[in-house]
Amino acid sequence: MSKTTLSVIKADVGGYVGHSASHPEILKCAQGVLRGAKKKGLIKDFHVTACGDDLELIMTHTRGEDNHEIHELTWNIFLKCTNLAKKLGLYGAGQDILSDSFTGNVKGLGPGVAEMEIEERPSEPIVIFMADKTSPGAWSYPLYEIFADPFNTAGLIIDPKLHDGFKFEVLDIHSNEIVEFSTPEELYDMLVFVGAPEHYGIRKVFRKDGEIAAVASSQKVNLIAGRYVGKDDPVMIVRTQSGFPAVGEVLEPFATPHLVAGWMRGSHMGPLMPVAVRQATPSRFDGPPRVIALGFQIKDCMLVGPRDMFDDPSFDKAREMANEIANYMRSLGPFEPHRLPLEQMEYTTLPQVKKKLKTRFKKIS
Ligand code: F6R
Ligand code: MG
Ligand code: MG
Repeated sequence: MSKTTLSVIKADVGGYVGHSASHPEILKCAQGVLRGAKKKGLIKDFHVTACGDDLELIMTHTRGEDNHEIHELTWNIFLKCTNLAKKLGLYGAGQDILSDSFTGNVKGLGPGVAEMEIEERPSEPIVIFMADKTSPGAWSYPLYEIFADPFNTAGLIIDPKLHDGFKFEVLDIHSNEIVEFSTPEELYDMLVFVGAPEHYGIRKVFRKDGEIAAVASSQKVNLIAGRYVGKDDPVMIVRTQSGFPAVGEVLEPFATPHLVAGWMRGSHMGPLMPVAVRQATPSRFDGPPRVIALGFQIKDCMLVGPRDMFDDPSFDKAREMANEIANYMRSLGPFEPHRLPLEQMEYTTLPQVKKKLKTRFKKIS
């Protein structure tokens, strides 16, 4: 049996209303193209969803990661949906489509990508996380919790298959260099880096035998474009059960909403609220940032599912907590740490205001 590739590719092709959600016609348009691609045998199966203003394409196929035809297919979907978004007058149509021409791979052109090629186990439960109004750094805390913290993942202590720990691939987002850490041995070294999620992001996690466990998108649209063009709103795929953390261990970090960068104008910190797909519509102060989780069983390259994993009363408290944290953070208004540090803000008037007030700055002795 050939290997199965799971590709999750996303882009903001236009928001409805403002940056708060995706229009149902956009999802229908993407579904139509993917239905055709499935009929032609280009992909095996697919699911289309949205998290806020981001269109999420989930696909299975046997063509491997970074496959030209798969990437071209998604690129064409984003272009088609952008045209539709323009027709409907959706907001920020084509926001993440940063190039006029396709060069073989959507990475670097705007869309976010997480892909993994796996040898399917007899039962292959996976969870796909998708977030809006935040950045790839948002995954570092939950990935650390899931794969390295025994207070979160009981299996690290009591399951012989997890007891050896995991390997983490960490990306320096600014220099584009990767470095690998082995946990638990190098936990403290790793935390020096990943505790700064806007600079170092966890990109992949492997079992010690080399088996892939998790993949996160790590594109930084604003760095690609060299100017502010929107949020990176990341995605990630996590394998679960028998040899990997259990589904409940994978979801558990989201029960404590952590603070992430990306709320209002990409320039504020806010709690990451775990929600059902129907609630993935950031509205208050364009947020707070949202995360959805879709669970699938993969069988013979087909997607059995999804289950909407955060559509569960056990996450009600997390949502309440996120709302309380949101209230508190909002009370700080334009002050840090609600507003991001100067160098991380995606909108700023500082240069203009500084220029205007230049003559009023006086040196003191
Ligand atoms: C977009 C986002 C929003 C926008 C804000 C202003 O992902 O986070 O908060 O930054 O709505 O949008 P513009 O500048 O398009 O009016
Ligand atoms: Mg948008
Ligand atoms: Mg978005």
